[in-house]
Amino acid sequence: MNVDHFWEEMIRYYSNIVGKYGNPVQRALQKLSALEINTICSTHGPVWRKYAHKAIEIYDRLSRYEGEDGVVVIYGSMYGNTEQMAEAIASSLSANGVKNIVLHNVSKSPASYVLKDVFKYKGVIIGSPTYSNSLFPEVEAILSKIEMREVKNRLYGYFGSFTWAGAAVKRLTAFGEKMKWETVGTPVEQKQGLKADKYEECWALGEAMANKLKIEN
Ligand SMILES: Cc1cc2nc3c(=O)[nH]c(=O)nc-3n(C[C@H](O)[C@H](O)[C@H](O)COP(=O)(O)O)c2cc1C
Repeated sequence: MNVDHFWEEMIRYYSNIVGKYGNPVQRALQKLSALEINTICSTHGPVWRKYAHKAIEIYDRLSRYEGEDGVVVIYGSMYGNTEQMAEAIASSLSANGVKNIVLHNVSKSPASYVLKDVFKYKGVIIGSPTYSNSLFPEVEAILSKIEMREVKNRLYGYFGSFTWAGAAVKRLTAFGEKMKWETVGTPVEQKQGLKADKYEECWALGEAMANKLKIEN
């Protein structure tokens, strides 16, 4: 099996099980830093010999909440309106030079994979339709998992759709403030299906995130 598969699974394990405990992990790594580690016998995973140092490197990076160059776009969508926005933003990210882009439709991607990519990437863009004056429930569930793990230092973009009174974008604003994430670009809010002016705004959001990542890396 390709060893890269293990790194992805290690990040998924860390994000879901250990994710909240960045500081204790940093303290443990500090304690062990004087030792020469040749073998790691993990309780929930393979025994690492050849790649022991790479495993430590990954835990070090994740426990400092340091994201890689790339963007995860997370969205929910009942009829496809918010999905159109997510796809426009992803197209813009790609056209503006972002190489690592992952899209997660929360009704299809298991939450553990979504969380993995929130820990993995520096850029996080979240979109939701308004649903009973709040967020689409599966998006709300993901926000709660991210909040619980106190993920830090993300570049954050967001967008949403509504029909009569938008609430999704307001809730996504409050989420970003609570997380103390840096908002990138202008949030996009559209009524129902994607129109030309809102397509432009989605494009601008993707472009702003791509430019910000270039400065950060
Ligand atoms: C169950 C349900 C609840 C909704 N609640 C609201 C609401 O509270 N306020 C609003 O403006 N639109 C509401 N809408 C309309 C959707 O937000 C709107 O159609 C949106 O564009 C759907 O986006 P989507 O295709 O990505 O799901 C609701 C739609 C459904 C199906």
